[in-house]
Amino acid sequence: MLDSVPPAQIPIVMSLSEQLKKIEVNARNGLAGAADLAALDAWHADYLSKKGSLTEILKGLKDLSPDEKRSTGALANTVREALESAFLARKREISQAEINERLKSETYDALRPRSSHRGHLHPLTQITEELEDLFSFMGFTILDGPEVETDENNFGKLNFSDDHPARDMQDTIWTAQEGVLLRTHTSSVQVRAMQILKPPFRILAPGRCFRYEETDASHENTFNQAEGMMIGENLSVANLIHVMKTFLSSFFEREVTVRLRPGYFPFVEPGFELDIQCLVCGGPGCPVCKHSGWVELLPCGMVHPNVLRQGGLNPEKWNGFAFGLGLSRLVMMRYGIEDIRHFMSGNLRFLEQFPA
Ligand code: PHE
Repeated sequence: MLDSVPPAQIPIVMSLSEQLKKIEVNARNGLAGAADLAALDAWHADYLSKKGSLTEILKGLKDLSPDEKRSTGALANTVREALESAFLARKREISQAEINERLKSETYDALRPRSSHRGHLHPLTQITEELEDLFSFMGFTILDGPEVETDENNFGKLNFSDDHPARDMQDTIWTAQEGVLLRTHTSSVQVRAMQILKPPFRILAPGRCFRYEETDASHENTFNQAEGMMIGENLSVANLIHVMKTFLSSFFEREVTVRLRPGYFPFVEPGFELDIQCLVCGGPGCPVCKHSGWVELLPCGMVHPNVLRQGGLNPEKWNGFAFGLGLSRLVMMRYGIEDIRHFMSGNLRFLEQFPA
């Protein structure tokens, strides 16, 4: 009967270190087969995460003798580190392959950024820079002046006497300080120019002006002007007309016809309103020129002798002309903008129509 005793069932149990090595082999095969980053993440979860097989197996360590524990523990750490670095290497490889694949199908033009939301200059700033270029080309110096001015520079030295009714033509915003205001026009820079420059000179002074006004489609309490002034010897209205025509023709990029009508400003004599023949209809009349064929564009005139005298210039020797360009008006004419209030509205849908 003894012969019939079956051979002892010897369980085939792999030691922990053998299991570790087997896991390492499987893991490396799996890694080589992971084709993209998603597969790689899944692989990481299978092998190296808290619930991964490597962690699971190490739970068996507690049943081992201290010696085996030490050596198997050390082996487990080596395997983990080897797999971690193999994982990172494979990750770099896959990322690079994905980039290479994209580069094959996409082109990238470094000179043309793709974002459509780049900022640009405000149309009034654009026109200011354009005028500065045009007038510099004609020999004018660009001058800047403060927006907060003295009564003296804004009115007094421009031949507005204290009780001059023309002061009421410009509704002034006063500051809390006596005799200090927000300039109502850039003509204040005429006064400053005569103080700092030696004649003969030509200046253009663009900038913001302020008036206490009810706003409507053609009036704003804040608006932009550019003051022009040319001082020399024996200048005449013919010189004024020539400079204006030269400027307007290059600005509108075509021949313009101008006419002068009398206009009153205390600091010029004679003073004019300069009109241009309507650029839309060319003369016969249309809604833009209110059927008159002419559009009022800029006030101007010969500098009043009192202004020269106040500026320290001898009117027997020096004379000249001045003009005031309404910048908002120019932009509105060029682009057919119907309401001046758009400029200060901060409305991006308006501003984005004028990319630089
Ligand atoms: N400063 C005047 C205004 O704003 C315009 C002007 C400038 C008139 C220069 C004549 C000469 O109304």
